Amino acid sequence: MKALVLCGGKGTRLRPLTYTLPKQLVPVANRPILHYVMDQIESTGIKDIGVIIAPETGERIKEALSVNPWQFNFTFILQEEPKGLAHAVMVAREFLGDDPFLMYLGDNLIGQSIQGFVEEFRTSRPEALILLKPIPDPRMFGVAEVDRGGNVLRLVEKPKEPPSNLALVGIYLFSPAIHEAISRIKPSFRGELEITDAIQALLDAGKRVRSHVLEGWWLDTGKKDDLLEANRVVLDELVACALEGEVDEQSKVVGRVRLESGAQVERSTVRGPAVIGAGTVIRDSFIGPYTSVGRGCLIEGTALEHSVVLDGARLVNVERLEDSVIGRNAVVAAAKQNSKALRLMIGDDAEVNI
Ligand code: DAU
Repeated sequence: MKALVLCGGKGTRLRPLTYTLPKQLVPVANRPILHYVMDQIESTGIKDIGVIIAPETGERIKEALSVNPWQFNFTFILQEEPKGLAHAVMVAREFLGDDPFLMYLGDNLIGQSIQGFVEEFRTSRPEALILLKPIPDPRMFGVAEVDRGGNVLRLVEKPKEPPSNLALVGIYLFSPAIHEAISRIKPSFRGELEITDAIQALLDAGKRVRSHVLEGWWLDTGKKDDLLEANRVVLDELVACALEGEVDEQSKVVGRVRLESGAQVERSTVRGPAVIGAGTVIRDSFIGPYTSVGRGCLIEGTALEHSVVLDGARLVNVERLEDSVIGRNAVVAAAKQNSKALRLMIGDDAEVNI
């Protein structure tokens, strides 16, 4: 069995971060989302991984996977244009051959091992097995109608009137029958070859499609608040206390905090769960729970909570910052004199709430 991980696409929803960073590499608790995806695949025993990349961001994805603690055999497959998830499978046809495969969208995070689903697929051999998650408003996703036994009856992509509350999670298992189904579908209203339509084509041909409802959390890190929520959940579940950096005597580090090597905490309080990246300096500041600070940052005279700060950012004399995402090398600094004027240099599509 092989795996196909999709890292193409445009990533418009997380702009401006995704102008310079593919969305699969946006960090959650200081690790790119894509690394969590690879951890999951490792647990299934699969070794051969095809990675779909786009011309604009492919090199960054390759670089992020060049450290390969999982010892996977990666094959990078260029998709010239983001013409849809089923199109990505077409582009990967040669790599996939006639093997069954796990397809994983590189920006999907789930809080439960996929081992059980892969095992079930291997033993019961349906043509496809999909993961579903009940959510209040599934209109932005693929939506499934299933019977009581988990057999899939019907699927629709981004329906205006959803037939159920079961959204398709971006993790799928396929037999090679999917290729023939893909050859029969047409582009959707958004001009893409949808994998949802290809699975529906399997159903139309009388093939067996099974489903599993995900019990744990699922986070589609599409927007700022989703990213903050993903960061919160992952910090809560995954971070163990590890202090590799330096903490001076006037500082307090409380709760589960990962302080990476070379990080320094001076005259400050860090209250976990939180991660502070390598080489970052925290000075005369308060870092509250559910905060991830990247590498090489400076946080000085600032109170920060429930936020994600990317590498190289500087926050200086900011009285209180919360629920925020700060991009790489961004600077937020309060004026020295007590001035009411704001002085901003804000990137395209940025959002500032004052
Ligand atoms: O996240 C789950 C949802 O993913 C499902 O519920 C939907 O049924 C499915 O169509 C998909 O919807 P999205 O609109 O969220 O897909 P998006 O365009 O964001 O792409 C998902 C991932 O696949 C993302 O990591 C980029 C990558 N991708 C996307 C396209 C369109 C590619 O590699 N190539 C592509 O052509």
